[in-house]
Amino acid sequence: MGKEDEVGDLVNLPQKRYYRQRAHSNPIADHCIDYPQTPDDMDWDKYYPNKGEKSVEFADIGCGYGGLLITLAPMFPESLMIGMEIRVKVSDYVMDRIAALRIQNPDVYKNVACLRTNAMKYLPNYFKKGQLKKMFFLYPDPHFKKAKHKWRIINKTLLAEYAYVLREDGIVYTVTDVKDLHEWMVLHFEEHPLFVRITDEELKSDPVVDKLFSSSEEGQKVTRNNGDKFLAVFRRIRDPSV
Ligand SMILES: C[S@@+](CC[C@H](N)C(=O)[O-])C[C@H]1O[C@@H](n2cnc3c(N)ncnc32)[C@H](O)[C@@H]1O
Repeated sequence: MGKEDEVGDLVNLPQKRYYRQRAHSNPIADHCIDYPQTPDDMDWDKYYPNKGEKSVEFADIGCGYGGLLITLAPMFPESLMIGMEIRVKVSDYVMDRIAALRIQNPDVYKNVACLRTNAMKYLPNYFKKGQLKKMFFLYPDPHFKKAKHKWRIINKTLLAEYAYVLREDGIVYTVTDVKDLHEWMVLHFEEHPLFVRITDEELKSDPVVDKLFSSSEEGQKVTRNNGDKFLAVFRRIRDPSV
């Protein structure tokens, strides 16, 4: 029984064991997903009780059980953040977790929410050009077989979308325990004209970096299994053609 489950019995935090779902969901298949036609059709007020004039600035893509977001929410109280997760039960868990945390801590967690969606298909439906400050890809599904590489969430076509929704100087964080996937992600970002890799030296002053390795549930699993963790962080640079 995890720490949260023990606490959960007292204060009704959701218990992960009731929300399990098989690990992989085909990101190319047509799931039944309700998504906005354009970013203007998105009713963000529904997700953030104190939204005001703010717009979502951080997106955790494939957020799984939401550990990273829950860690970042109190660190960046002024920033709205969203987890995007394709698996129904897993996204339900994150939504229930946030709802319970908001009841327990009325002044925290109002800046964090989760959506069930396919981030490989609908990202520009949710976000305007240059809207996001930070995107996170933590332990994305590796899709080891060559025939399944097209399922990988980092690829040439999708990087163009990520560059579109990120603002200039926006940051993309990637972590994986799979060396081959790490090399694949680095190669694709380095080949893309609108991204440059951020050096390890520069990363030392970024308070987020520390949280990338084990705040998420997958990161904790990798730690338990003594797995490797490969980090690569990229900056969205100015488009020289505009
Ligand atoms: C290995 S898990 C990592 C989860 C989380 N980032 C963590 O570190 O604990 C990858 C997650 O990405 C989700 N995912 C895969 N493809 C997706 C897509 N196209 N859109 C949204 N989520 C996706 C999966 O359902 C899964 O929960």
